[in-house]
Amino acid sequence: MVFFLPETAGGSESLDQLTPRQIVEELDKYVIGQHAAKRAVAIALRNRMRRLKLPPEMADEVAPKNIIMIGPTGVGKTEIARRLARLSGSPFTKVEASKFTEVGYVGRDVESMVRDLVDIAVDMVREEKIYEVQDKAEENAEERLLDLLLPPLRPVYRPEPAAASPASQTTPQTTPQTTPQTTPQTTPQTTPQTTDDRADKTDFQATRAKLRKQLREGKLDNRTVELDVRERAFPSFEIITSGGVEEMDINIKDMLPGLFGGKTRKRKFKVPEALEYLIQEEEHKLVDMDQVGRLAVERTEQAGIIFVDELDKIAGREGGHGPDVSREGVQRDLLPIVEGTSVSTKYGMVRTDHLLFIAAGAFHVAKPSDLIPELQGRFPIRVELHSLSKGDFIRILQEPKSALLKQYRALLATEGIDLEFTEDAVDSVASYSMRVNEATENIGARRLHTIMEKVLDDLSFDAPDLTQKKWVIDAEFVARMLDEIANDDDLSRYIL
Ligand SMILES: Nc1ncnc2c1ncn2[C@@H]1O[C@H](COP(=O)(O)OP(=O)(O)OP(=O)(O)O)[C@@H](O)[C@H]1O
Ligand SMILES: [Mg+2]
Repeated sequence: MVFFLPETAGGSESLDQLTPRQIVEELDKYVIGQHAAKRAVAIALRNRMRRLKLPPEMADEVAPKNIIMIGPTGVGKTEIARRLARLSGSPFTKVEASKFTEVGYVGRDVESMVRDLVDIAVDMVREEKIYEVQDKAEENAEERLLDLLLPPLRPVYRPEPAAASPASQTTPQTTPQTTPQTTPQTTPQTTPQTTDDRADKTDFQATRAKLRKQLREGKLDNRTVELDVRERAFPSFEIITSGGVEEMDINIKDMLPGLFGGKTRKRKFKVPEALEYLIQEEEHKLVDMDQVGRLAVERTEQAGIIFVDELDKIAGREGGHGPDVSREGVQRDLLPIVEGTSVSTKYGMVRTDHLLFIAAGAFHVAKPSDLIPELQGRFPIRVELHSLSKGDFIRILQEPKSALLKQYRALLATEGIDLEFTEDAVDSVASYSMRVNEATENIGARRLHTIMEKVLDDLSFDAPDLTQKKWVIDAEFVARMLDEIANDDDLSRYIL
């Protein structure tokens, strides 16, 4: 089992070597503080790699060390889990436990989270496979486009018109010679009478070579060609039945094959779009979806991570009031998946024994000990995340790879505005954020977003019209934008 780094999908770099310490270092690039949580997820990830190195009989017995992250809102719980998944190239999905208790979801099967996960894994694997066949697809597409621009001398018999007959069939075998002056011009000709004349053939090949050159140089970009495009009779739709979406999906496709992909119609394209379209079509043809499905199931089983948010909302053993599904009921539904069961999906059965579950919740009222004992036992690792301090805010604003200030600077740079934040401005934004969190509701680092949006409100609006290109945001600027609102509790409740 190899873990792919997203940037090198299909590449050789694997995460097998990353030590827990290095995993934490990677996470540090995105999430400030919360060392205990990072440490816990790093151990969990490393344990999975360790498990895969065990003899199969033993590997089967090793249960994942699922984690509960306990902490207030907006302190990085989701962020840590998401970054971990990216880092390890693991299929990752997030569900809110509480949604299973809602009226509309009565009986909505908890297993759907596993199906979502497989879908994500399929997308990942397909991407990787497409990457692998990219060159071949481009090559085939170019040949097909040349066939359209300059129809072959003899009709090439192909089982289906669009099928990928190996491109080499139509490629000139002889090396293209220097084109004589008399070569037919590049306008597509109607297929000449079937003459087996040698001269004709070399002429044709020379023309084709010339066309290929022009195509690559972009000289044919204004030409149009006609392609058979697949008709999509229906926008994709889902029917939700008690049996779940999956079965329905399959049946309808089987029953009405004509609706899905059977029909084609002609459409005109400019050459570059046509090439793009043909490349995509070739990619689809070259990627073996059965194999993708199999690999995706395997990857899901070995490396999948499910993030269960708001676990505290289903803690507590009393039955729910009113029409809500009882919380304990949801826990009982969740249990088999966490303990290990088989879930049927479009791509086959998926065993959930080795999925990693990372749960999160504030646990203000309910405690982890309020979960049913079986579930508690399946989440052996508990870590607490701390409320963020002003110092953390200051760092969060500037340090992470996608830090908020970096984002704003980049966004406004697209309008030609050069934005700079002084140190005291950053300090001030952090102070205001702390103050508003204390005075109204503590939403953690999310407050930085609302505050920053307000600070840059005018600039964001006026940016395209400004003649002044260099803007230095200092504490005074921040105060000017925020003072009035921040000092008024009622106002800040609504605006910040
Ligand atoms: N410690 C942190 N370092 C960097 N960014 C953070 C940190 N904590 C939160 N953020 C930022 O704040 C936002 C919300 O964080 P996140 O989604 O992780 O919150 P959460 O803890 O999952 O909250 P909730 O309990 O509401 O789901 C994200 O944009 C994230 O980037
Ligand atoms: Mg969250």
